[in-house]
Amino acid sequence: MTNVDTTTPLFLRALRGEDTPTAPVWFMRQAGRYLPEYMTLKEKHSFWEMCRQPEVACEVTMQPIRRLGVDAAILFQDIMTPLPPMGVNIDFAPGPVIDDPIRTAAQVDALRIPEVDEIAPFVGDAIRLIRGECPVPLIGFGGAPLTLATYLVEGSGSKEYAMFRAFLRREPAVAHALLDKVTEVSIRYLKAQVAAGAQAIQLFDSWAGLHDEATWRTFAMPYNRRILEALGETGVPRIYLAVGALHLFGAIAELPFEGISVDWRQPLTHVRSAFPGRTLQGNLDPVALLGPREVLRGDIERILHEGRGGAHIFNLGHGMFRWADPETVKYAVEVVHGFDRHAR
Ligand code: CP3
Repeated sequence: MTNVDTTTPLFLRALRGEDTPTAPVWFMRQAGRYLPEYMTLKEKHSFWEMCRQPEVACEVTMQPIRRLGVDAAILFQDIMTPLPPMGVNIDFAPGPVIDDPIRTAAQVDALRIPEVDEIAPFVGDAIRLIRGECPVPLIGFGGAPLTLATYLVEGSGSKEYAMFRAFLRREPAVAHALLDKVTEVSIRYLKAQVAAGAQAIQLFDSWAGLHDEATWRTFAMPYNRRILEALGETGVPRIYLAVGALHLFGAIAELPFEGISVDWRQPLTHVRSAFPGRTLQGNLDPVALLGPREVLRGDIERILHEGRGGAHIFNLGHGMFRWADPETVKYAVEVVHGFDRHAR
């Protein structure tokens, strides 16, 4: 029988590996355009303004907490937040768009590695404000270097990121120099989030699944390891996310982290054995929130069954769609909380 701890929040207990009686739940992109209160703020502020004004970032982080009853908050920012001080111009339309994509050695040389207080001081301020009013643990986050480099090189979102993947083959030395700089900035940025009060960190390697294992081992693994090890020194639990990356799970299992976020393409029962002793997070298909409630309930209960036999944090397999109805999302939280993971 595991030690039952009722003073530590459910989310942090699950990240410590506890087989909790109910699953904690939060949703990727739980703040954002599906919430009318978010759209009201967006009428007044650009996306960057919302990120860079600590009061606004705090308010947006808190919106889903007030409405949904989730067990964790995620800081409202973007994975691109730490990059402008390196000297890149980034807009959102609504995904990231880079004016002058980074593709040459000279461009990489020109990128700055800012001091920690220059990177994103507003993030520390936002975190302190959130911690002052948030009743549930706060997750900080960053993009994994390969995923950040995907946008920096490609210049915008794309279906296959063919330009970026060709760049890794044409200019491996430039790619490594870029990844190295982005890694250093990410370590400073994420450690600052922890110092300000983030209670867990999720590393989003969203586009890892595009690559074969050899490419991922060359261009992602060493940089992810550096970040995860640096965070390990702080003692906060670490969650790693890679989408569409079942083929990489053997390699990913070599990385140091406490939680692995899994998409909907594979059942949690298959993933459990690849990550013994670690916490599984996931893995509802975000489209399930767009369907009828009876079907949604069935999907949620199936996933909760599949998540038994170890620690499980309920989440989506990827970010919330903006067409989701907040009432349906709230219903999903209630279904998760009503499920007894230890019932026979
Ligand atoms: O999850 C949360 O509620 C916290 C906030 C958050 C945002 N972006 C806010 C956001 C988080 C954790 C992110 C991470 C992020 N950003 C990732 C990793 C997660 C993933 O989806 O794999 C990636 C790849 C990005 C890059 C990015 N930023 C994209 C692809 C987009 C467009 C998103 C869309 O919904 O079309 C953005 C913009 C963005 N980031 C928005 C929000 C709320 C929408 C901006 C708007 O309001 O117009």
